Amino acid sequence: MKSVASAPAKIILFGEHFIVYGGKAVLCSIDKRITVESELTTANNIEIESSLGRLAIPKSGSYKDTDLVFRPLAYIAQKTLEKFNSESGMRIRVSSEFPSGVGLGSSSACCVAAAGSISGLFGKLTKEEILKIAIDAERTIFENTSGADCTVCVYGGILEYSKDGHIRKLENAPNLELVVANSGIAHSTSKVVSMVRQFKDGKPEIFSSLCTKEANLIEDALDALQKNDLGKLGKLMTQNQEFLEKIGVSNDTLSSMISLVGGASYGAKLTGAGDGGCIIALADKSNLEKVLGALAEKYECFSAKIDTVGLEQRAS
Ligand code: PMV
Repeated sequence: MKSVASAPAKIILFGEHFIVYGGKAVLCSIDKRITVESELTTANNIEIESSLGRLAIPKSGSYKDTDLVFRPLAYIAQKTLEKFNSESGMRIRVSSEFPSGVGLGSSSACCVAAAGSISGLFGKLTKEEILKIAIDAERTIFENTSGADCTVCVYGGILEYSKDGHIRKLENAPNLELVVANSGIAHSTSKVVSMVRQFKDGKPEIFSSLCTKEANLIEDALDALQKNDLGKLGKLMTQNQEFLEKIGVSNDTLSSMISLVGGASYGAKLTGAGDGGCIIALADKSNLEKVLGALAEKYECFSAKIDTVGLEQRAS
C-alpha cells in the first residue's frame, strides 16, 4: 500500500519582520502543493527521492547525520518506524508544484505532507497529531520556528499569528486571486532577519514608529479582509511594501517587479524575508491576465488562490 498526502504552499500577506519584534502577521496557504508518497519496503533503509536529489539512509541511524534538505523526512520516517516497532524499510517520494528556497514555505509543506503520508502507513492520526509531528520535524532544521507555516499548511485558509503562540484562523475569509512572481534570487531568512536587527539597533526611533504603523496597518487589513475590500487591501499591501523598503529588505529587482504590476494590480509587495524570493500582487478576474502579462516575460510567475483545504491524505 502507498500512503499519499499533500500540503499547500504559503505566503505572508502582511507583517513579515515586524512579527519578530512582537507584531502580528497574516499568512495564507495557496493552491500549489507538495505531495509525499510513502510505502513500506523489505529493504533495510529509508530511501528518499525528490527534485532536490536522492538519498538512502540506514533506518536505525540518527536523523542528525542526514543532509539538512532531507533531515525532517528522515526524522519523521525513523520516529514513525520506531513508534510502531516496524521491521520494514521505507520509500518516500516528494514532488512539488512550486519552487523551494524562495519564501513559499516548501520546507513546512514538505514536513506536513510527509507527516501525513508516513503516519498514514500505520493508521489515521488527527490533524492536530500530524501538526505536532510536522513542527517537531521542522525544528530539526529551524530550531526557532513559530509553527505558523506548518499550522497554515495543515488547516489551510488565512491565519493571523504572533510570536507568543497566538494563532487565529479568519472565518469567512475571501478567496483572493493573487499573482506570485519569483525574483529568481535565493535568500537566507536568517541573514535578512539580522540585517533588520542592525537597522533597528542603528535607528531605534524610526524602527519603533514603523512597528506602530505596521500594527495599525494590520488591523485595517484584517478589517478589509472581512469586508472583501480589494481596493483597500491592495493599497495596504503597497503601503506595507513601503515599510519593508524603509527597513531595507527589498532590493532593486523586487522593487522593479512591484513597479511592473503597480498599474495593473490592486497592490503588491514582497512576501517573506525579502532580499530575493517572491513578490505577490493582488488581482481579480478583471485584471489577472494583465498582471500576469506584466511579469511573465522576465519572471517565473503564476496565479494562485487561497487554499482552504490544507492537508489532504489518501491511500492508494
Ligand atoms: O522566509 P519566510 O517566508 O519563511 O519568511 C520569514 C518571515 C520573517 O518574518 C522575516 C521571519 C520570521 O521568523 O517570522
